[in-house]
Amino acid sequence: MSLKQKLCLAVLASGSGTNLQSIIDQCRRGLLNAEIKLVISNNPDAGALERAERAGINNICINHRGFDTRESFDQAVVSALKEVKTELVVLAGFMRIISPLFLQAFPQRIINIHPALLPSFPGLHVQQKAINYGAKFSGCTVHLVDGGVDTGPIIVQAVVPILDNDTEETLAARILEQEHKIYPQAIQWFAEGRVKITKRQVKIENCINLETALINPPLPQREK
Ligand code: GRF
Repeated sequence: MSLKQKLCLAVLASGSGTNLQSIIDQCRRGLLNAEIKLVISNNPDAGALERAERAGINNICINHRGFDTRESFDQAVVSALKEVKTELVVLAGFMRIISPLFLQAFPQRIINIHPALLPSFPGLHVQQKAINYGAKFSGCTVHLVDGGVDTGPIIVQAVVPILDNDTEETLAARILEQEHKIYPQAIQWFAEGRVKITKRQVKIENCINLETALINPPLPQREK
């Protein structure tokens, strides 16, 4: 573990929190030079809150139903994030649209994970949409959050094949396995100060480039 100060994270989640768990686990193993200062959920029943509690991480529910406007809810969230000196806001299944007020409080410092290969299939129920479309690959995308829905600059993607007998559940599980790898790694790149953003282009300093193509269904193996 480097001696550099740990990156202060806050994780926002509305659901079961398996991505949160992968970040907790990687921090514990010393593979992530970051500390989760706070977990916030808008959903009082979120499994993510239980996971945080079990891990001894400060957690709160800010229920959006108690607020009249998106801005007033976001203001409460931003205040909580500022209070713990959040450096990177990690959305992990957070089912709320982020208002300009929130974005301006953390410019280029809010990231999200989406279970499809953006810019294909933004929005909800995207595993089923990819199957219905007949796509041969799907995957997941870690991206910066901007004013749109799943439109921000892409940081890293993982590709998985879509199999002939896939259901929404089997595909979601295959994608989730990759989410749990790429999300902690993306955070680590931020912790190392290696994420360089120029307009829509995000580059990770000192990374090797992938040069292998993926084909699905695979071509027959032929002798050269
Ligand atoms: C993940 O599929 C993520 O890509 C999406 O919401 C889901 C959250 O899952 N944004 P979990 O709560 O982390 O298990």
